Amino acid sequence: MVSRWRQQSDRVALVPTMGALHEGHLSLIRQVREHAGRVVVSIFLNPTQFGPGEDYESYPRTLAQDVELCRREGVSLVFAPDAKEMYGTGKGDYSGYISFRISRMTDHLCGASRSGHFEGVLQVVNKLFNTVQPDVAVFGQKDIQQWFLIRQMAAETDQPVEILMGPTRRESDGLAMSSRNIYLNEEDRKKAPMLYASLQRISAVLAEKAGHDDQRPVSVNASLLEAEYSILRENGMNLDYLTVVSTPDLQPADVIIPGRLYVVAVAAWLGGTRLIDNVLLNTNAG
Ligand code: PAF
Repeated sequence: MVSRWRQQSDRVALVPTMGALHEGHLSLIRQVREHAGRVVVSIFLNPTQFGPGEDYESYPRTLAQDVELCRREGVSLVFAPDAKEMYGTGKGDYSGYISFRISRMTDHLCGASRSGHFEGVLQVVNKLFNTVQPDVAVFGQKDIQQWFLIRQMAAETDQPVEILMGPTRRESDGLAMSSRNIYLNEEDRKKAPMLYASLQRISAVLAEKAGHDDQRPVSVNASLLEAEYSILRENGMNLDYLTVVSTPDLQPADVIIPGRLYVVAVAAWLGGTRLIDNVLLNTNAG
């Protein structure tokens, strides 16, 4: 079907998802529609990107509802394979022989604590790119490390696909939309927007300093991050990281060089739920 569209000169867009679609996914669909005549949404809860003890079993599965949402959004095709179709095995052995390990870019942020996660993500996204052969694909900013890794993989494997970034969609109180937000109990749900508030305070301080006319590098004071760490910890959050990284290498940044793009990123456990969020720190080129 996709090759027929291509023969008709229709551009094809891919929106890879793991299902449990929410407004954030729908905004990605709307975004790529501007870039392609045909939109394919893949729905596949990829076992290879979940580590032992992670939430693969309990992850929300809402296929019928997801397909209906896609239909309403005018999606041309929903690709919802099972693991056997994707990996050619039905026996729970999904390890695969080919996966991508992109060094350095996975040393920090989620890569540091979720061993094997990004290999699994890149493995499945590579397969999806080969199967669908999209002209353009979109991934959300919330999973920023994933976004940079996929772009790197596509470039290094000469995949002719343009990788777009979809802005993070937020609830009215600032919490980044995520399929995992439903795990939060009432108390943790009230606290969760504090993550975004911390990111905003850090980026505001750094952007203000970096925006000065002299265009000198600005140091990322440990005390700036430590103050926010304390606030979040005092509110019962268990922080995995709260950090500033440079792009596209995703290395911790001690200084901000005006004109370059940085990310202020956080991952924290609220009860049994791990949430991530980030803001881009786009300093003036001067
Ligand atoms: O971001 C996600 O939902 C997943 O990591 C992706 C890109 C669909 C791969 O399984």
